[in-house]
Parts: sequence; C-alpha cells; structure tokens
Amino acid sequence: MGFSTDAVHGGQSAEPVTGAVMMPIFQTSTFKQDGLGRHRGYEYARTQNPTREAFERNIAVLEGGAHGVAFASGMSAIAAVMYLFKEGDEIVITENVYGGTYRLAESVLKQYGLRFKFIDTTDIETVKANVTPSTKLVFIETPTNPLLHVTDVQAVATFSHTLNALVAVDNTFMSPYFQNPLALGADIVLHSSTKYLNGHSDMVGGVVVVNDSPLAEQLRFVQNAVGAVPGPFDCYLALRGTKTLALRMKQHEANARHLAAYLRGHRALERLYYPGLDSHPQHELTKKQSRGFGGIVTFDVGSLERAKHVLENVSLFTLAESLGGVESLICHPASMTHASVPKEERVRIGITDGLIRLSVGIEDVEDLEKDLAHALEF
Ligand SMILES: Cc1ncc(COP(=O)(O)O)c(C=O)c1O
Repeated sequence: MGFSTDAVHGGQSAEPVTGAVMMPIFQTSTFKQDGLGRHRGYEYARTQNPTREAFERNIAVLEGGAHGVAFASGMSAIAAVMYLFKEGDEIVITENVYGGTYRLAESVLKQYGLRFKFIDTTDIETVKANVTPSTKLVFIETPTNPLLHVTDVQAVATFSHTLNALVAVDNTFMSPYFQNPLALGADIVLHSSTKYLNGHSDMVGGVVVVNDSPLAEQLRFVQNAVGAVPGPFDCYLALRGTKTLALRMKQHEANARHLAAYLRGHRALERLYYPGLDSHPQHELTKKQSRGFGGIVTFDVGSLERAKHVLENVSLFTLAESLGGVESLICHPASMTHASVPKEERVRIGITDGLIRLSVGIEDVEDLEKDLAHALEF
C-alpha cells in the first residue's frame, strides 16, 4: 500500500461493538471483568486502552515496524528508551540533540549511573572513535533541532551493530512520511507526536516503534511500570493527525523549499540551514536516506538584537516553542528550546544568539514570504 493509504487505514478496523468507522475515544480508567481472572483484553487504562492501541498500530505501520508504544510526551518516549539500560551502561548521543534530551541525560539519568557521550554523529569517523564495546545505545537525532545536521543512519547502524549497540533515531523532524529509520537499520524509532504526527498543535505526546518483539515487550513493561501514558483523547487527536500526514508534509516541504530559496543570499542573513539546499553539507546524504527535506528552516542574523527585531516584527509567524503544526511558528533556540544547554556548549555547537528557527506551516507561501521580508528589513 502507498503511504497515504496506510495513513488512513494502517492498523485500523471498524470498532467491533458498534461498527464505528473511526476509533472512538475510550474515556475510561478501568474495564469490567467477566469473572475472576476473566477479562476481554482490557483491565486498567494505564496498561491497555483501545484508542491508544489504534494509534500505536497506525504509527507502527507508517514507520514500517511491528510494534508501536505510545507515551505522554516525546520526552517520556525518550526516557522509556533510556530506562532499557542500567547503571554503568554507556549511551552515545548526537551532540546537537534537542535541549530536552540533553537535560534528561545530564540532569536526570546521569545520577542513576548511566554514562553519556555527546558526539558529532554526522562524522562516521567520530562515531567509530567513540562507540566502543561498552556502548549499549547510539541515540541519533536526524536532522537535528535546530541546526538540521544530518547523520547517515545506515552507516552508524552498520558500525554500531558490529559492537552489539542498539541504535535509536529521533525521527520527529522528518516524520515517517519522509524518513523510515528502521528501514535504514535502526532498532528503535521515536517521535514527539506533539509535532508533525498530530500536526495541529493541540496535544502533547510521544511514541516509540520497534520491530523486535522482546524489545517491544520491555518498552510496554516500562510504559505500564512508569505510567507516563497518553490519555485517550490525545491518542485520538494524534490518530486523527496521521490521516492527513502526507498532505500536510507535502505542503510543509513545498513552503519550506520556497522560503529557503527566498532566504538564500538574503543580505540580512549570515547563515542559512536547510537540507534541501545543495549548499547543505549533507544534501546528498538526505537525498539518499530520506524522501524529502522537511519543513524546518533555520538561519542566523548575527546578533541577539537583530534576532529580537525579526522575532518581534513577524505577524503571521507566531513566536512560540514547538514545531510541526499547520501554523507557522518562529523561535529563538538559544533562549527557548535550547535554554537548558549551557551557553559555552551551545556556542560550541553553533546555537548562537542570532539563530532563528522557522517551523514552516501550510499557509499560502506568498503571505509567509511577505511576513519574513518585512521582519528582515533592518
Ligand atoms: C526532536 C525532538 N525530540 C523530542 C522532543 C520532545 O518532545 P515533547 O515536547 O513532546 O516532550 C522535541 C520537542 O521539541 C523535539 O523537537
């Protein structure tokens, strides 16, 4: 089946009791049992919920995996993957990772004895020098938030597997419409479903997809034991979102490509980052491992004052955290999404005070261009 067909039908069937075509919201915390030790597959809603399962099946199909496991947020999905490891285990992470992932590792999990190494995973030689027999997980974010660095998933997975390390990919930025990390050799793919999967900026959620059944069982154990589960209404919203993922991603990308072409060479910019530009260092790699370039465009205007001017002079772009919704958003990574990364580390990896990230929405692109043109007049 094609992606759009899977998006609408993948893992879905009419609800058995009433024939409801769309999976209803099972807003209940518990389920009647028919007798002692006899239930209908549902006991308690932290452990099982039909609406959640419908979303989990759908995203598993879209990622080409066998099992989906949903969580209350992207961060709790990432935490669940980390909970698979124990004291002394080493985890190698893309250095330009989302600030929340950095904070989880450095400020929470480190105190439980997990060891983290942040490295430039875009360079396979750096990966080979840092992934060792004590590495249990290589956690890649590609493209990264906000600098859009792209890692060769296949090359990292092939090498990491020779040392028996698992490979997880945060696929939030591309969505399964543009990229399927499991098909590239990753063992685990995860999303903040808050972003493109839901696509309407009206819920927070996360999801992990794997092929390996024992790994799925471990993740389900963590899901239930830790209890960071999404509510049924949020699962319904995410499932409703994935049905239009293909349509939305096409428009996000068309608009992002248009704006990147407009911004290229603009005299107000010092740097422009978009994997769809042939000047992007991993443009060819992106063409090889992905089916598109996504809807995020990042640029540097050189200073905090100039960034402030842009952020306060747009009107269609909303100044806000997050990305992946139908509406265009603009943000200042250094003080917003990446504020939890220490300043010297931020500057070292290129998250400067002049950096601005656009989440390009699905509006008429002429209106978006006009809005940016006005804000970039200094
Ligand atoms: C790439 C990436 N991964 C994970 C997250 C965390 O997701 P959530 O905010 O749903 O917890 C985000 C949030 O911005 C993100 O951009």
